[in-house]
Amino acid sequence: MSRFDVKRYGHGSRVPGWDESVDLSKPPATIPDPALTPVPAKLRAAIEQAMTQYPDSKSAAIPALHLAQDYYGWCSPEAIDQVACVMGLTPAYLTSVASFYDIFEREQPRHHARHHVYVCTNISCSLRGGDELYEAMLVAADDDPELNVREFECLGACDIAPMASVDGEYVGPLTEEDIARIVEDVHAGRPVLVDKQLRNRPCAHTEAANAPVRVFEPPRPPATEEVPAPAATEQVPAPAATEQVPAPAATEQVPAPAASEQAQAPAAAAEEPTPKRASRPRKPKTPPPEPAS
Ligand code: FES
Repeated sequence: MSRFDVKRYGHGSRVPGWDESVDLSKPPATIPDPALTPVPAKLRAAIEQAMTQYPDSKSAAIPALHLAQDYYGWCSPEAIDQVACVMGLTPAYLTSVASFYDIFEREQPRHHARHHVYVCTNISCSLRGGDELYEAMLVAADDDPELNVREFECLGACDIAPMASVDGEYVGPLTEEDIARIVEDVHAGRPVLVDKQLRNRPCAHTEAANAPVRVFEPPRPPATEEVPAPAATEQVPAPAATEQVPAPAATEQVPAPAASEQAQAPAAAAEEPTPKRASRPRKPKTPPPEPAS
């Protein structure tokens, strides 16, 4: 076989199993039934508004997924079902879009994080210190349950490298000093690094500059389930006075031994001596030999 002969598989492809993920024996996926798929009114209205922006409403798939992610904090299977229901698409179609773009969270972020910080470490940002900024961001966020910090591929704003996206707000070029400011701004609930926002650059399109970053407030984490204290009636009742073990009657007391018996008793019964181990019989000593005369 020459080096130009490339192996092909049974189905003609050079890649094994390229079509094995399709199970044609399964019934085709269907659009979720609106009667069985409740969608929050605000989310529905926002998705429908996004659909009006495109000649083909299907093109609103990405903005609609963004809205669902804003609303729920991530693109859960239920959220995708709801978007599919409003848009009249199958969940599989939207899942294929959501799984292609890294920007969609398809797993619940740790601790129900409310803020997403994506630090770009792709080539332009990496050459200008993006990797160090990412490490610094991880340290600054530490175990902060509010922050979901991720390393990210090119976010498409290489002209402000090194940059990051904070809840969708693009900021850059960043320095290490900006990392602490990002954390402070996020915690204070104010716009992050206003002087470094892409929207505020002179070249930004006015419409883009005025567009809201988030339509919905980040969702609050669910209240932690506290284990209820047992009700007072569930406490184990103290035993009734009548259930107490009665003290032995005076007549049942063992009579004290007579004085004569006391003399015969050992000095302290409790101090009964421990029986000694039987000693081994010793060999009789061999008498020393008689001196030779
Ligand atoms: S490489 Fe960072 S935005 Fe493009």
